[in-house]
Amino acid sequence: MRKGDVSQRTVFDMKPVLYQPNEAKTNDVFYNVYRNLEIIGGKLRYDITEIPQRKIGVEFAKTFGHYHKGIYPELYEVLDGRAYFLLQRYGNSAHPAGGDPAEIKEAYIVEASAGAKAVMPPGFGHLSINIGNVELVLGNWIGLAEYDYETIKKLRGGCYYVLDRGKNMEFEQNPNYKSVPKLKKIKLRDLPEFGIKNDKEHPILDLKNEPQKLEWLVNPEKYLNLLTIEKLYKEI
Ligand SMILES: [Fe+2]
Repeated sequence: MRKGDVSQRTVFDMKPVLYQPNEAKTNDVFYNVYRNLEIIGGKLRYDITEIPQRKIGVEFAKTFGHYHKGIYPELYEVLDGRAYFLLQRYGNSAHPAGGDPAEIKEAYIVEASAGAKAVMPPGFGHLSINIGNVELVLGNWIGLAEYDYETIKKLRGGCYYVLDRGKNMEFEQNPNYKSVPKLKKIKLRDLPEFGIKNDKEHPILDLKNEPQKLEWLVNPEKYLNLLTIEKLYKEI
């Protein structure tokens, strides 16, 4: 068992955001989040999330999904397994909650396997999906962000569901949204200015020894020009 403050989501907790809520039949623990495994200066914390290798109906296991209140970004690393991160926004970095949450302006999918790092930019709601053959384990650094789960809950999940119907992976638009753009696949890049390298030799946990490289998570307003999809990712 890991240390930290564990918070768990059961299968029934996930019902509001599932593609097939009626397929949630047993109320066992679905995924675990261990928070505050490291804390830097009371302003930054490191958490680990474990998402099982499992499907509910035809949908891959995923986290509930949320937006951050305000403009806090987040830095993830895949510690084990294979992930898709779904990123979506309805506001913009200056006004993340400005606009109608049912009208998504941009939606992206990022594939990441062990050693890969992904930044959730200001204003982007996100969720993590286990598309691999093993438990997906994610580490993350985050500032003093508060979470908004309600927006995703009301719309019954992210703007796309990731499904496995036996052949190819499918991305299905969530019909509860009023408008959803085409899903764009984007690729990770190394971000030397933030000490981010997408290999297993550079775990983000090591950045606790260079906290100045995590300052963008504490004071994102100074870094908004760097915290854009264009700067953080490559188009495919
Ligand atoms: Fe987050």
